[in-house]
Amino acid sequence: MTSKLFTPFDLGPVRLPNRIVVAPMCQYSADDGSANDWHLQHWMQFAYSGAGLFMVEATAVERHGRITHGCLGLYSDSNEDAAKRCLDAARRVGGPARFGIQIGHAGRKASAQRPWEGGKALEPRQDPWATVAASSIPFDQGWHTPDALDEAGFSRIRDAFVAGALRAARIGFEVVELHMAHGYLLHNILSPISNRRTDQYGGSRESRMRFPLSVARAVRAALPTSVALGARLSATDWHEQGWTIEDSVVLARELKAIGLDFICASSGGVTPAIKVPVAPGYQVPLAERIRSEAGIATRAVGLIVDPAHAEQIVASGKADMVALARAFLDNPRWVWHAAQRLGAKAFYPPQYERVRDAQWPGLKLVRPEGAKAAAE
Ligand SMILES: Cc1cc2nc3c(=O)[nH]c(=O)nc-3n(C[C@H](O)[C@H](O)[C@H](O)COP(=O)(O)O)c2cc1C
Repeated sequence: MTSKLFTPFDLGPVRLPNRIVVAPMCQYSADDGSANDWHLQHWMQFAYSGAGLFMVEATAVERHGRITHGCLGLYSDSNEDAAKRCLDAARRVGGPARFGIQIGHAGRKASAQRPWEGGKALEPRQDPWATVAASSIPFDQGWHTPDALDEAGFSRIRDAFVAGALRAARIGFEVVELHMAHGYLLHNILSPISNRRTDQYGGSRESRMRFPLSVARAVRAALPTSVALGARLSATDWHEQGWTIEDSVVLARELKAIGLDFICASSGGVTPAIKVPVAPGYQVPLAERIRSEAGIATRAVGLIVDPAHAEQIVASGKADMVALARAFLDNPRWVWHAAQRLGAKAFYPPQYERVRDAQWPGLKLVRPEGAKAAAE
């Protein structure tokens, strides 16, 4: 059997060595937006993990666009220098991973506590800040009431996206992803649940798409053509009055026309009142529809854990790439084990070569079914 998961993929101008992606994951550990030693070790370990692409966490394009005091940013020269230090070090380690970064603005979900501090809105003693959104409606009870953006605010944030993307390209990131998911600012503007405006930025789908599309257009025009650009969408709000998969197909077509290279299909997050039907691969059909109906490359994500499942998603043409988040926190060696299971060849740094299955029977001793699959 030849694994499709382990074949290269051209993500626009960037060739990925395989279709396995480390999903963007906030670490809530930065110092005023600047990466530190935590990020250094986090990025370095995934450089040689065997994954084809490592996506750096949601990175705020302005200081007030951070979710928490610990979120990464690209709004200052210090942020840029700190991220460059980590990226350069991760590249020096050697390994196949290409590096991308997700840039975004938290909107009305900004000014929050780190998850391990409670994850609620910052209290007055915790140095909170004023938030912005499409409309002046808080995310939930007890959350800050955001200011509805005016024309100057839209313009400032669009410029900040461009400046952040340019910093990312200057540091050497090869992939930039616009965060349009999970209830953060761009999704907040797209969804009729959170956007109640009556001006040119609200009302019809076309009006709600106006600002996110203008950001995508400005960022694509500013970035060098050697940098791939994509977007992560909440492809559905899981509510009939909300943003739907049909809306996402329309948006994805527009983003493709602007020159975006891929869509990552996530979902939910616009309000805590809507429950998401989480199950293995639950968002894969969203990636599949966007891929087939908008004709753009997609990345599937969400409870993809089993290598055979990941292989099946890519081999059956439901998505071009799969992203894993928690599975990689649990097991940064996921790719090596997946390669054994799928009979594919993974990259190992020479220092760790001796755990290859040809040289060490360890995994087969503890997981006989893995040995069986590898032998097939
Ligand atoms: C610790 C953690 C941090 C996350 N941070 C981000 C983020 O920065 N941007 C984003 O789009 N999604 C973020 N997510 C969501 C993941 O990228 C992913 O979509 C989600 O966890 C589902 O995938 P999984 O089942 O493989 O974990 C985060 C998830 C986790 C567990």
